[in-house]
Amino acid sequence: MNLPNLKDAKVRTKCKTRIIRDDYKVPDSMKNIGKGKKYYLKTYGCQMNVHDSENISAILEDMGFTKSDTMEDADIILLNTCAIRENAHNKMFGFLGRVKHLKESRKDIICGICGCMAQEESVVEELRGKYKCVDIIFGTHNIHKLPNILEESLKNQKQEVEVYSIEGNVYENIPVKRDSKVKAWVNIMYGCDKFCTYCIVPYTRGKQRSRMPEDIINEVKELVESGYKEVTLLGQNVNAYGKDLGIDYTMGDLLEDTAKTKIDRIRFVTSHPWDFDDKMIDVIAKYDNIMPYIHLPLQSGSDRILKLMGRRYTKEKYLELFNKLKKKIPNCAITTDIIVAFPGETEEDFQDTLDVVNTCKYDSAFTFIYSPRIGTPGALMENKLSEKEKNERLYKLNEVVNKYANEANRKYLGKVVPVLLEGESEKKGRLMGYTDTMKLVNVEADYKYLGKVVNVKITAVKTWSMDGKIV
Ligand code: SAH
Ligand code: SF4
Ligand code: F3S
Repeated sequence: MNLPNLKDAKVRTKCKTRIIRDDYKVPDSMKNIGKGKKYYLKTYGCQMNVHDSENISAILEDMGFTKSDTMEDADIILLNTCAIRENAHNKMFGFLGRVKHLKESRKDIICGICGCMAQEESVVEELRGKYKCVDIIFGTHNIHKLPNILEESLKNQKQEVEVYSIEGNVYENIPVKRDSKVKAWVNIMYGCDKFCTYCIVPYTRGKQRSRMPEDIINEVKELVESGYKEVTLLGQNVNAYGKDLGIDYTMGDLLEDTAKTKIDRIRFVTSHPWDFDDKMIDVIAKYDNIMPYIHLPLQSGSDRILKLMGRRYTKEKYLELFNKLKKKIPNCAITTDIIVAFPGETEEDFQDTLDVVNTCKYDSAFTFIYSPRIGTPGALMENKLSEKEKNERLYKLNEVVNKYANEANRKYLGKVVPVLLEGESEKKGRLMGYTDTMKLVNVEADYKYLGKVVNVKITAVKTWSMDGKIV
């Protein structure tokens, strides 16, 4: 048993990251354990977690399990959790209620919890005490060890907890079963060292560790050869890519080398404003296959709050960067993340945030009420706002954000734009895909266009999506 520990999770040493190239192996004893059995995997959280789930699926399938879309049919149920806000916590415990109920009639079902919540001390304590229906708990650092953890739990017939609060390694050979045949997630770095005072990620994901450029480029080249049209380069702070490698190679270089693989579309998330350098901007502007879409989290428009958050930029610096991006990358869509009601946020601070939104007129924004996370500095700061005030601020912010999102979308009406058709639309008989600027479009199109970038005329515009026709 290994329990998570927040104090250890915080530690950052100068030790070089280990790159492990041959650590994944399903023990012979576990090779066929899933034969004739099904797995159900539910994923919460960011793209990083979505991609981790693609690794978990591959590992389960290596053990013989096949995928089930419903939990009721499954022999093994896994929940890949997110710890970013309190509501994630509630979702997980709600889900476990359903598992417990299922296990009353089928005792042999195996239930596992993994992901960022498994890295939280308080969560694992709670699971160990009250939730006997959970058989295995493992964290973000040892996904590749799932077969071994499962084996231990089956052998000992008891709850197996294997969570490591370490800085972390880079594992190169974990198998992956991608959800899409058109677009792929590609990790370029893991972890985060920014320690924004509200955020749990540096504790749940370890230190910032970049993959070697050649490993990333080779993965992209293989994807191109297998027919993939789009890659999204993933990291908590992609702009800081390479800084931990001790070689003279930055995100700008990586974007350029990725562009040269000739893959149709390149995206990247997330960009911390702090590390966005000119080289990166120039490369995005230069290559047509790097999409003109940037997610640039603001968090707050108040310098005082930004400082308390530990974001290391001012409103002025943010706007300077924003304007530079808009100037140098024509047609560039910019979206953002904003937190309201951070401890100590006054009405004036909140107005500063609205001010920035009114200036930037974002294409869209994810907005959140601040949620204290145990172990982060923010959780110790006093918050005098009532629930009502917090909700009012979120509501006001959303009104402004939605107004500009709508305006941005309306500009597309009647225009012809490139869309990569990546799947079936929820609306029957249509396909769906995204414009280069990341707008969701439902398209009247024949299935033969699936997986292709097509020119689409936008015929109708809604707040969150558009309709279109192939031209
Ligand atoms: N690495 C990214 C953010 C990842 S988390 C970045 O630095 O931009 C995604 C978003 O969740 C954050 O941008 C932030 O807006 C929000 N978030 C993170 N912690 C939060 C908390 N404790 N309460 C509310 N929102 C939070
Ligand atoms: Fe969290 Fe800040 Fe790191 Fe983003 S940069 S993951 S918000 S600590
Ligand atoms: Fe959530 Fe972990 Fe991602 S906390 S947002 S799943 S890195």
